[in-house]
Amino acid sequence: MQDASHKLVIVARKLLPAGLVPLGARFEVREGGLDITREQLIEMLPGAAALVADASVPVDGEVLDAAGGTLMIVANIAVGYDNIDLDACREREIVVTNTPNVLTQATAELALALTLAAARRMSDAERDLRAGAWEGWDPGAYLGPELAGATVGIVGMGRIGRRYGRLVSALGARVVYAGPSVKLDAERQIEARKLELADLYTEADVVSVHAPASPDTHHMIGAAELEAIGPNGVLVNTSRGSLVDASALAAALRDGKLGAAGLDVYEHEPEVPPELLEAPRCVLLPHIGSATSAARDAMALLVADNVAAVLEGREPRTPVT
Ligand code: DGY
Repeated sequence: MQDASHKLVIVARKLLPAGLVPLGARFEVREGGLDITREQLIEMLPGAAALVADASVPVDGEVLDAAGGTLMIVANIAVGYDNIDLDACREREIVVTNTPNVLTQATAELALALTLAAARRMSDAERDLRAGAWEGWDPGAYLGPELAGATVGIVGMGRIGRRYGRLVSALGARVVYAGPSVKLDAERQIEARKLELADLYTEADVVSVHAPASPDTHHMIGAAELEAIGPNGVLVNTSRGSLVDASALAAALRDGKLGAAGLDVYEHEPEVPPELLEAPRCVLLPHIGSATSAARDAMALLVADNVAAVLEGREPRTPVT
């Protein structure tokens, strides 16, 4: 068995100092950098005891096998773990961890910001202003809905969905939700009502997506769902891009079948479909849901705790498998 200081931790891309420093004090740590290719990662992996990945790093059987039999843990710097082949990890008895809880508030706040920005057409308005196309106050320009009194539909009422529900409820919105289980806390605290998904799309003025990516949720929001949300409705997605059919979304915005959209995530990041870049009434952000200093530092520290626990023979704090 390797002694702890000789155990090799590969950070596929980048880990903030809040996690890198404590890991570096106990283990040998090598970082791949933000531009690393899959081939370069595979070359770095032989002998690794831990792999620190993020949502943009696919971790499959080939990557795991590149590390060899020494690999004990894949620690994801994300609450989502759709980038990791869990079955392949289970087969090789490799622990997988994620970073839940610490990013709940940051991501819920960003979803609220996107909701307001999309509803109030902030991107179009700012773009016009910067282009010198603002010709003065116009009582009919950039009109959108208010959240007070609106019905907000939450698809996926996990931690982030529930926190977002509390935020929009504080602004006077009614909350409805869809998901596999009843959330009694949300029903009691903010009078959230559970609906069938199809009813949520027709009833809600704003639909915010907080469900995980999986084969079941791939393109779950397409042309029919967007039409049901309607010409005055707002779609917000801060979960994973694969849940929304981007071509259908761009067409619905172009054709006036959907009121507005706010997106933080895309199916093939960092690619953003050109039709979305051109679409009207659409706010686009570069996957910054958890990007507060507090959340990102806490995510890095949690990754370090999980890696150290597994490499030192303890239970990790936030295991997935
Ligand atoms: C997450 O935690 O899943 C965020 O999307 C960051 O990748």
